[in-house]
Amino acid sequence: MSPGGKLRRKKNATMKVGCLSYNREGNRTMLAPAQMTMSAARSFVESGLAEINVDPSVLAQHLSIIKNGMRRLSDDPEAQQFFPYTVLKKDAMGWDEDAGYWCKRGSETKDYYHHCPEHVWDLESDLSRSFLPFLESCTNLTFWAWGNVRKLLRDIDAEYGLDIGRYFDNEYMVTRIVRYRKLLASIKEDALPHFDRDGITHHIWASHPGLMMYRDGTVHPVEETAWDRIAMFPGKKFLALVKGAHGDHGLHGARDAREMTNGDDRIAIITFTHCSLPPYALQWLQENDDRLKALADTYKL
Ligand SMILES: [Fe+2]
Repeated sequence: MSPGGKLRRKKNATMKVGCLSYNREGNRTMLAPAQMTMSAARSFVESGLAEINVDPSVLAQHLSIIKNGMRRLSDDPEAQQFFPYTVLKKDAMGWDEDAGYWCKRGSETKDYYHHCPEHVWDLESDLSRSFLPFLESCTNLTFWAWGNVRKLLRDIDAEYGLDIGRYFDNEYMVTRIVRYRKLLASIKEDALPHFDRDGITHHIWASHPGLMMYRDGTVHPVEETAWDRIAMFPGKKFLALVKGAHGDHGLHGARDAREMTNGDDRIAIITFTHCSLPPYALQWLQENDDRLKALADTYKL
């Protein structure tokens, strides 16, 4: 592991993943969570998608910083060395909880940076420290997303008489800034059909349309370019917590409808919120993971 890959806490700073007590340098302002009604909880559970109106000023504060930071990072191999891909730990399924920069080529052509607020990078050079506003914006959006997810979970528990929100407390949470390389892509799909590994995916924004939800043989495009709308859908761990009682929801992919020779890369911002798995949920996921993968494959072009 490189020197930049250590997981450590900053002195004089309180940091806790998945918890609103997060406070960096003592002067951070919490972004207010979105207003949402119980119908969002019902839509999420029963159809696998909740699209929610949010205050556009939240994204307006951070979007250009994040876009420009991601372009700089993905174009500069020297900068990438400051954010080495780092596995923080394995979850109960043996899946990686990670942070850092990753460049993927092949069936999917994308570069992404995983921002885990608890993971602190060692930034000592001027170049590395020039990314501090980018990191701070990533942190702000991550905890804003957590506020929205926490509200949704409270509503789900209340509406369905469940007690699953507690499994998300203090668990791994990561925001992915992803850049799909159009000119390098060999297939039409930015992301092949799949279920996310997390509990709840909080899709914040994308520069161009592409996100598709797949359900019962149909394809449902999601509005993701607006600044005043986010989408939340279940990952496999949520399905496990409810033992798939409402259907195999959350299957999705990304199909960019533009010509493949259009070099305007698609950039997206997504926060993944994970949860712990009580024994019954771990067992359900172990028994159903292969079936879910096979189901996703049926939607490939
Ligand atoms: Fe996904």
